[in-house]
Amino acid sequence: MTTITLDRYADVRDAFRQHDLRQDMYDAGGLVMADCLLVLHGAEHRVRRRVENRLFRRGTFRHWEHSFLRDVVRDTLVPFVAAGRGDLVEIGYRTVMNLTAMVAGVDRPTGSDAEMIAATDELYRFAKKFSEGATLVHTTRDPREVQAEVQAALDEFDATFLQPSIARRQALLARFDAGEITEDELPRDVLTALLRHRDELGVDDDVIRRECAFYLQAGSHSTANAFTHAAHDYFTWSADRDASTDPALLQRCVYESLRLHPASPVAQRRALAPIRLRGGTEIAEGTVVVMDLAGANRDAAVFDRPLEYDPLREVPDDVPRWGHAFGGGMHACIGTELAGGVPGPSTGTAGEGEQVLGTVTLMLGALLAAGGHPDPDGPAERDPHSAREHFGRYPVAFPTS
Ligand code: HEM
Repeated sequence: MTTITLDRYADVRDAFRQHDLRQDMYDAGGLVMADCLLVLHGAEHRVRRRVENRLFRRGTFRHWEHSFLRDVVRDTLVPFVAAGRGDLVEIGYRTVMNLTAMVAGVDRPTGSDAEMIAATDELYRFAKKFSEGATLVHTTRDPREVQAEVQAALDEFDATFLQPSIARRQALLARFDAGEITEDELPRDVLTALLRHRDELGVDDDVIRRECAFYLQAGSHSTANAFTHAAHDYFTWSADRDASTDPALLQRCVYESLRLHPASPVAQRRALAPIRLRGGTEIAEGTVVVMDLAGANRDAAVFDRPLEYDPLREVPDDVPRWGHAFGGGMHACIGTELAGGVPGPSTGTAGEGEQVLGTVTLMLGALLAAGGHPDPDGPAERDPHSAREHFGRYPVAFPTS
């Protein structure tokens, strides 16, 4: 089997747009990923994406950001700030867990604050396990051991969270069909969309379970990692300059971190037919195409001084500041706007109320506003169980009064 690696920015962009390149990254992670949006191709992908896209319409996240996202971010920080310390990896997951559960349609039992936090931590544990299962191809552990743990987590997740969430939505859909409630009263989430369109989509209970598990981990893992990298890069960059915490600047900082440390450093496809890229690269049918997103995001033909972290850099008009961090083409990240917001015109020129900053920028802003800084007593460490360059722990301290 031939493998070709693309690491030039333009080649990766062109490859993302090729309809004859099929997702090839998640075969090993089939336990969580089989038949999920990210692995579907052609008409099947188009139909599923159209149904799920409706939840991600432009404007939805502007509304979310201004109505409750800031509160979610701030409230999650409160116990850590009160304790005077925390871990960015945990803070990141706690914050995004509730958000991605909401998008996926996974209800948390309501109750006391302690019960809510316990449920969030449970989801965090599941999401980490699902993520380990999805990226099995990168594991440094015994794959069979990981698979057994993933299966156990899927079963537990199903019984504890998913079945009650399905029952609640089926009751609402029955009332909607009977004309007792309007469409606006149905939850706007992936699970409701799948249950409502299950015949059209041809999805069974197992696929629905995997799609919800996939959303839970895809949204949380990438966002939490982006947050930790963004904080680390900002701490390093601001250590020897008088850096502002203007939200528009922080958003650029987040984009620059995403460029340098994309949550998925590579994407992988397989050629269903012979392909010739615009740059002249010939790809024979059956070839595995590795798209080196991290490498392409450091292409000197596009990014001046590519290895340097410079949130104020100039980029060509047709290149997003995050490069290929959110992918492109048919599988382009559906959560781009939720996680990354909409790029502002330039630092300091957009009023705070106008710009959609995105979850990661909101999280970074809240962390800095609370005085969060690297904990001098506990150094950050990379995750020893992943070949990806994620942090396994990142202790931070908060000023205590
Ligand atoms: C900083 C945060 C994020 C990053 C860096 C990121 C990155 C990516 C990338 C690179 C892909 C394409 C992978 C490929 O082509 O093989 C992707 C796809 C996807 N992402 Fe994200 N993502 C982020 C946040 C989110 C969030 C918050 C959600 C949802 C709540 C989400 C849901 C998805 C879904 C459903 C797909 C598959 C789309 C499709 O196949 O049509 N992501 N993401």
